[in-house]
Amino acid sequence: MAKTIQSVRGFGDVLPEQTPVWQFVEDRLRSTLDRYGYEEIRLPVLEKTELFSRSIGEVTDIVEKEMYTFDDRNGDSLSLRPEGTAGCVRAAIQHGLLHNRQPRLWYAGTMFRHERPQRGRYRQFNQVGVEVFGLEGPDIDAEVILLAARMLREVGLDDIRLELNTLGTPEARAAYREALVAFLRGHEAALDADSLRRLETNPLRILDTKNPDTRAVLAEAPAMADWIDEPSRAHFRELCAILDRAGVAYTVNPQLVRGLDYYGRTVFEWITEQLGAQGTVCAGGRYDGLVEQIGGRATPAIGFALGLERLVALVEDARAAPSASSPHAYLVLVGESASREGLVLAEELRDAIPGLRLVTHCGGGGFKSQFKRADRLRANFALVMGDDEVVRGEVTIKDLYGGGEQQIVTRAELPVCMRRLLDGLPPKL
Ligand code: HAM
Repeated sequence: MAKTIQSVRGFGDVLPEQTPVWQFVEDRLRSTLDRYGYEEIRLPVLEKTELFSRSIGEVTDIVEKEMYTFDDRNGDSLSLRPEGTAGCVRAAIQHGLLHNRQPRLWYAGTMFRHERPQRGRYRQFNQVGVEVFGLEGPDIDAEVILLAARMLREVGLDDIRLELNTLGTPEARAAYREALVAFLRGHEAALDADSLRRLETNPLRILDTKNPDTRAVLAEAPAMADWIDEPSRAHFRELCAILDRAGVAYTVNPQLVRGLDYYGRTVFEWITEQLGAQGTVCAGGRYDGLVEQIGGRATPAIGFALGLERLVALVEDARAAPSASSPHAYLVLVGESASREGLVLAEELRDAIPGLRLVTHCGGGGFKSQFKRADRLRANFALVMGDDEVVRGEVTIKDLYGGGEQQIVTRAELPVCMRRLLDGLPPKL
């Protein structure tokens, strides 16, 4: 037999048993974006390398060592996109979307970063991102945060921590950077190798370090908050006031900096402890200088991106609700006559209830393995028939989501009963 070929490391498959969760997450995110009036834009996966080095930053981890970059047959340097913001800004400028307009855009797509793969971190991964252009007030900052919060709630995740910070204007940040570098130069002996390297390239990222010795040094370092300019502070205060008023819980984390250079003023991340080290499920911020940096007219902008692999993992862990395409019911059949009679019952039900998505268990096996299968498909209900039930002409209905309630009905009553149960499901299911 020929040697089998495996997928490329960090490039995963989504198998049929996982697609229902993906569809559920994608559907919920898309319908939430619709409700806020955001418009979809579809962008290429390949861009000129220069677009990313000019926007994300020459000395960021992404541009320095994580991009899939190659020369094409014409000798042009191209890169698979490591994120969506740069391409979205490029498209908005190129197609004149920013002329006298304030577009609120969203995109979904595959991104590529050559990182070390682990749970929640892949080399090919998917984001749903939002970018809003032309609005400079804190009201839009609040809206995108409220939108992201609702997107997370809609997929069933409402206990994820939101952290906020303001980075101030680029000038304020440059002044802080200088102060931080001057301070850290006096403590070089106590810094880890990575931080020493960043001291030369991207010192603000040192604030992100997990190294305890470096953290101890940082405790004494000048605080970014003290360097923030007054207009940025006022912007941030107003944002916090709107979020307070809207009942959004958050913590201000003065150490929060982002791994991409284009941010200024508001930055935010939703973080969970449930995914180990890769706990950021959604992240973003303001990038008022980027449009101009890529050759457009100065235009304020803000956005965020959600990592779908991380969302899906959390939804799977939480065993969140079934998707619009998962079965309404899974027919559990234990015993010989039940297996035979089950196929007849399934046809009766399909005749009686148009639109019913029903999966009949085939191939035998015990209750436990069949329920597992129903779970995996995220069926709303299990319909259970054993040989005894065949004799009695009964079926047990088990609600697999709404508290696991169980009821026994006769075969004659079953269609009516199922119709009532399906009517009670949320609209899209
Ligand atoms: P980012 O923080 O680099 O920001 O990525 C956003 C999200 O994408 C992360 O919070 C995470 O959920 C997911 N993600 C990133 N890298 C990986 C990976 N290797 N594997 C799996 N998931 C990953 C950006 O990309 C910005 N463009 C966000 C933005 C939009 N800012 C303004 N507008």
